[in-house]
Parts: sequence; C-alpha cells; structure tokens
Amino acid sequence: MALRLKERLGKKFDEEIRFFKGMMQGPRTVGSIVPTSSVTARKMASVVNIQSGLPVLELGPGTGAITKAILARGVEPENLVAIEYSTDFFKHLVRLYPGVNFINGDAFDLDKTLGVLRGQTFDSVISGIPLLNFPMQARIALLESLLDRLPPGRPVVQISYGAVSPIIARPERYHIKHFDFVVRNIPPAQLWIYRRG
Ligand SMILES: C[S@@+](CC[C@H](N)C(=O)[O-])C[C@H]1O[C@@H](n2cnc3c(N)ncnc32)[C@H](O)[C@@H]1O
Repeated sequence: MALRLKERLGKKFDEEIRFFKGMMQGPRTVGSIVPTSSVTARKMASVVNIQSGLPVLELGPGTGAITKAILARGVEPENLVAIEYSTDFFKHLVRLYPGVNFINGDAFDLDKTLGVLRGQTFDSVISGIPLLNFPMQARIALLESLLDRLPPGRPVVQISYGAVSPIIARPERYHIKHFDFVVRNIPPAQLWIYRRG
C-alpha cells in the first residue's frame, strides 16, 4: 500500500517536473503552471460521443492528463488524434499512451499538421491549448478550422483561465456556451463549448 502511494506520488512529481521543464522551454506555449486536474479532464472528456464511431481530436495534450480521461471515457487509442507542439511532451506521450495517433506539430496550421487526416471528420475537439497567448484573429481562424471538421452541432471544448470566453462571439458563425467552472484545478479553470448549427 505504502509502496503504491510512493509510486503514485513519484509519477505525479515526475509529471510536474516534466511540465515545469516544458514551461521553461516555452512558457508562452505551455500557458499553465501545473497539469490539468483529473476533475477538469473528466469534465472535458464527458462531451465525447462514443457511439459516433468518429475519432476525437485533442489539442495540446502536454503531460497527457486529458488524453487519459478521453481514453477512460472509452475512446480506442487508434480513435484519438492528438496534436502537441512540444517535442519533449510528444516523446513522453508516445511512450505513455501506445496506439494513440500523436502528431508533433502546430495546431494553428491544421491542414499541414494533420497531413493525410486533413479531410477527416471528428466527433469532437478537446483543447488544452493556451489560447489567450495567441492573437484573437488566430484563435478565431483555429476555431473555424476545427468546426469545419465536425458534424454540425458537435462541440469544441476549450479550457481557459479568464472570466470571459477566449474567443469573441460571432453568433452568425458559431454559438458559445459556458460549460463549467472547475475550482479543483490549479489555477481554477473555465470550460467553454463552441458549436455550429
Ligand atoms: C496548458 S498546457 C496543457 C496541459 C495538459 N492538459 C496537461 O495536463 O498536461 C498547453 C499545451 O499546449 C501545447 N501547445 C501550445 N501551443 C500549441 C500549438 N500551437 N499546437 C499544439 N500544441 C500546442 C503546449 O506545448 C502544452 O503542452
């Protein structure tokens, strides 16, 4: 029992060190101080519709906290595509979650980054990208490009740490819903859902 606790603490510490290293290499792209909590990750993964049979797209998996929750929801590893910008995180993720289709690239350049999957329709998008660190025009362009890859009505879920949606409203293009405020996250997290139709 004590050994299992020690192993768990060791693993958590290892993830936080890795996160800190990632942040030191690129604080602008990491955008948070510690990995996403399991409560937040589960809430974000809850939007996935397993019955759709379509793959799920994750952005900015980092240490893999949200990846873990998506897999726990019942998504087969082969049915998860995850784009991570940091090569250090990417290498770690490939080892940690065999079978998941990790891509080491830039989510803001989806056509290039998805490669042969550029024409793929996804069930939903779960994003941990620190949107507030990027210009508004880039955020809008990313959202539109993501919504183009979803069936009408299916969600893009985004984590953020500000009081308002990190993407401005354009009701003629998409709808914004405040999904949750998770206090059990460092820092407390706001979850937003964007959809068309
Ligand atoms: C706040 S962290 C995500 C934390 C993650 N949920 C976890 O628990 O470890 C943001 C992640 O987005 C990644 N990222 C930032 N910009 C990106 C981009 N343009 N394309 C893909 N990933 C990006 C960062 O490298 C980092 O892993």
